[in-house]
Amino acid sequence: MENTQKKGGFAGGIGFVLAAAGSAVGLGNLWGFPYKTANNGGAAFVFLYIACVLFIGLTIMICEIFLGRRSQANPVTAFKKINKKIGWFGLLAILVPFIITWYYSVLGGYTVKFAVNSFWGNDGNLANFAGNGWEVILFSAIFLGFALFVVMMGVKSGIEKASKILMPALFILLVLVVIFVLFLGDGVGDGLKFYLVPDFSKITWSSVLAAMGQAFYSLSLGMGAMIVYGSYTGKEINIVKSTGMICIFDTFVALLAGMAIFPAVFHFAAVEGIAATDLQLNGLMLMFNTLPKVFESIGYFGNIIEFFFFAMVIIAAVTSVISIMEVSTQFIIQKFRIKRKKATLFVAIVTFAISIPIALSLGHLLNGTGKMEIFGLDFLSFLDTVTNTVIMPVCALFSCLAVGWFITPKKAIEELKLDGNKFGIFEKPLMFMMKFVVPVLIIAIEVFGIKDLIFPGNVFSSDGLGVAIVSLAIIAVAMGVYFLLLKNTETGTNADEIG
Ligand code: PHE
Repeated sequence: MENTQKKGGFAGGIGFVLAAAGSAVGLGNLWGFPYKTANNGGAAFVFLYIACVLFIGLTIMICEIFLGRRSQANPVTAFKKINKKIGWFGLLAILVPFIITWYYSVLGGYTVKFAVNSFWGNDGNLANFAGNGWEVILFSAIFLGFALFVVMMGVKSGIEKASKILMPALFILLVLVVIFVLFLGDGVGDGLKFYLVPDFSKITWSSVLAAMGQAFYSLSLGMGAMIVYGSYTGKEINIVKSTGMICIFDTFVALLAGMAIFPAVFHFAAVEGIAATDLQLNGLMLMFNTLPKVFESIGYFGNIIEFFFFAMVIIAAVTSVISIMEVSTQFIIQKFRIKRKKATLFVAIVTFAISIPIALSLGHLLNGTGKMEIFGLDFLSFLDTVTNTVIMPVCALFSCLAVGWFITPKKAIEELKLDGNKFGIFEKPLMFMMKFVVPVLIIAIEVFGIKDLIFPGNVFSSDGLGVAIVSLAIIAVAMGVYFLLLKNTETGTNADEIG
């Protein structure tokens, strides 16, 4: 804990906040939040979401950044330093982001292709592109290449520098798109109404769970990223204030994303004389099918706005993937004492190789050929469910337990205060949150998530059970590998980075 030697860490507070915000702002903000908001009671859901960020997200993020900071090391060492028996919590927090990198890079490839193609038109291109395996693989490689380059350059000269340029750029692009869209005229008001008019009758238990899950994912919690970025900070960075800024930025971007999307879609619907709600408004289809149609219906200026939009999506995705690529890279550097460039290259090559079948399987899904499935899902959805629904809450729970039960909230708050953090009247509530409230809420998310997986719509699904079993097996593997290979061997710290 006393190892405050900073080697290659973030140079300053702003750099750290922007890098962490870069991790947080991702596809979850751009295609998850707007849709969930519109579907779960508009502004009523926004209030709920903000409450989840304030009460759960903030607490876990403080715990994760704190765990990294106090150990100045990768997640395995970070947990090991608290208690040797829980070092495997860290291994899981490295494994999950590694798995996410595999499929996120395929989605990243789509965003690059769509940005490049904005000028010629993307309307109706999704099925063509998706079915053209080699092209998808090529664009995924280009996307991965960006991330590889940044991570190779290191934390200060790569990740921090890139975030300082890319995050303001993302924000400017988003604001430009929102302004453009709000002036489109017909349908804009209806879009805003659809998105934001509060409807408290839509708030049910499942919307509460949706808000909690979304807050988690959107803040990049339970995926090692915040532990790792935290490990590159020293006493000069105020954890509580930084956490506040990251959460505000992330929420603001999510809110603005909806203000770019819904008014545009409703404007298109009004012009075409169709019902906007008949269009696909969620996830992949919203981004790669509906939105290109919407922008391209506006004429050539629309193509330029479309390019801005996809450029923004690339930035959001690349800064997220950088953060999770850094997680596995850091561990490899520290455990095997190899140079950063080699470690990054290794991670990127393995990721690229595994992303190939994922890209092909997604192509089959989008073309409706139904090949290359596992438990009834394409590979991407399968891995997404394994990580998001089952393992990520477990990882977040572990971070919370490590601080709330192993370190104890009292000692944690003392350590944080020594670092210059101030809590005022929130000190006691925060301690209570760390120890009891947040763990209970995470367990609720996990239990309901697994229940929905195995009994979707209250009907038993053997596929869902299969996904749950694979997820638990991954957790067991992390545990086994740790106790067999890592518990009693050196797992390194940031100070070990060479070259
Ligand atoms: N917070 C990210 C998002 O909203 C989640 C994420 C982070 C996904 C890092 C992948 C990698 O999309």
